[in-house]
Amino acid sequence: MFLSVALIWAVVVGCCCLLWLAVGIRRRQPGEPAVENGLIPYLGCALQFGANPLAFLKSRQKKYGHIFTCKIAGQYIHFLCDPFSYHSVIRQGRHLDWRKFHFDTSAKAFGHENFDPRHGHTTENLHQTFLKTLQGEALPSLIQTMMGHLQDVMLRSDTLHPSTHSWEVDGIFAFCYKVMFESGYLTLFGKELGEDKSQARQAAQKALVLNALENFKEFDKIFPALVAGLPIHVFKSAYSARENLAKTMNPETLSKRENVSDLISMRMLLNDSLSTFNEIGKARTHVALLWASQANTLLLPSGASSTCSDSIMKEAMRLSSASLNVRVAKEDFLLHLDNQQAYRIRKDDVIALYPPMLHYDPEIFQNPYEYQYDRFLDESGQEKTVFFRNGRRLRYFYMPFGSGVTKCPGRFFAVCEIKQFLTLVLSYFDMELLDPATKPRLWTSPAPAWASSSPPTTWTSDTS
Ligand code: HEM
Repeated sequence: MFLSVALIWAVVVGCCCLLWLAVGIRRRQPGEPAVENGLIPYLGCALQFGANPLAFLKSRQKKYGHIFTCKIAGQYIHFLCDPFSYHSVIRQGRHLDWRKFHFDTSAKAFGHENFDPRHGHTTENLHQTFLKTLQGEALPSLIQTMMGHLQDVMLRSDTLHPSTHSWEVDGIFAFCYKVMFESGYLTLFGKELGEDKSQARQAAQKALVLNALENFKEFDKIFPALVAGLPIHVFKSAYSARENLAKTMNPETLSKRENVSDLISMRMLLNDSLSTFNEIGKARTHVALLWASQANTLLLPSGASSTCSDSIMKEAMRLSSASLNVRVAKEDFLLHLDNQQAYRIRKDDVIALYPPMLHYDPEIFQNPYEYQYDRFLDESGQEKTVFFRNGRRLRYFYMPFGSGVTKCPGRFFAVCEIKQFLTLVLSYFDMELLDPATKPRLWTSPAPAWASSSPPTTWTSDTS
């Protein structure tokens, strides 16, 4: 009996393998980039890619050259690694769709209905909403509100327990995370205090933000896996973290908050007027915005004069940003590379640029794993805008905010808030490293763990 059950299972598994070999594997057609299907059905190379994207892509680049295709969670992605050919993707409007992947990924990761008007849930032009509420006239008030919250959080809030007498010990990353999260959260979502400004009410507000921070961390940990296509239900605690965040952002709760940013007020208005989203769907669109505004606003603090603060920040973002720039093929077409070669791309395939391939390229940035605060300054101390690879001037060498039409709409605000943070930290606190010899581990190391590996520092507030 046991033998016959085992035999049946063996036959079923064997048939599945054959079926996978027959239909689940893409075979390279003439003129197409080299393809790697991976060994695991559906996932393909997802696990190797997820463990260390930069190392994975570098090794494949060495093997296959400027362009190659990997199956990642059921999707065939063409990775283009030649920076001189980037413009053919960034500018390739006719054959490539920049919206589809963004809309689909956001809907999958955050659980709201699709924002693509072609899906029929909304008629909103989301791109325009972001530009209107994060740039131009909306920017000064965002910056001013952020400044107020940063000052409050650093000096008056009990998040940090600032003291002029004793030194506090904390990780650099943990310190930055707490300050930036709380200030950024309050800047976007305002405060719910109403008439009641009592200490108890303030404490409840504080608890809400700290709770949001914990939920955010839990959800953010698995975000790359969601982008790679894994369903959120595989990650139980991340799923409940996301839902907990959404519960605090339902339309009724948000309507009680004061000083809500244009970005969120407009989102509420458009959710109600242009979409057919249900209440929980509406709340999840706010979680998406919280994630977009917070997840990347990480930095490596450093000290130097204000004349080179741009270079300091660019260098920090060169080392710490890690986003994919993605377009989807609208039809079969030929992608022309800089070296005069052309590759066949199939409809619905994804083409991806991975900026860390540039940012960590030793031919563009010497000693790329080293933090050099003046890397983006020229000999006369002015902004350096000319970088070369193999003696040729590069058009694209620095892309932490993405590229072309999908470039981060919050980038001007992001740069300002990081500068504000640096200025206030340097003016308010005395800081020193407990062990200056310990070097922070970069996210490109095999086991990325910024939070736990950033060196501890001691700090004390200097409010005199
Ligand atoms: C250092 C901080 C930041 C970095 C490195 C960053 C980077 C990025 C990147 C790479 C993208 C995707 C671009 C693409 O697909 O090509 C993006 C999208 C986005 N970012 Fe940022 N971002 C930062 C801060 C912010 C802030 C502070 C906000 C808002 C307050 C924001 C709002 C958004 C939004 C709404 C999108 C989605 C745009 C769309 O789908 O059209 N970002 N960001």
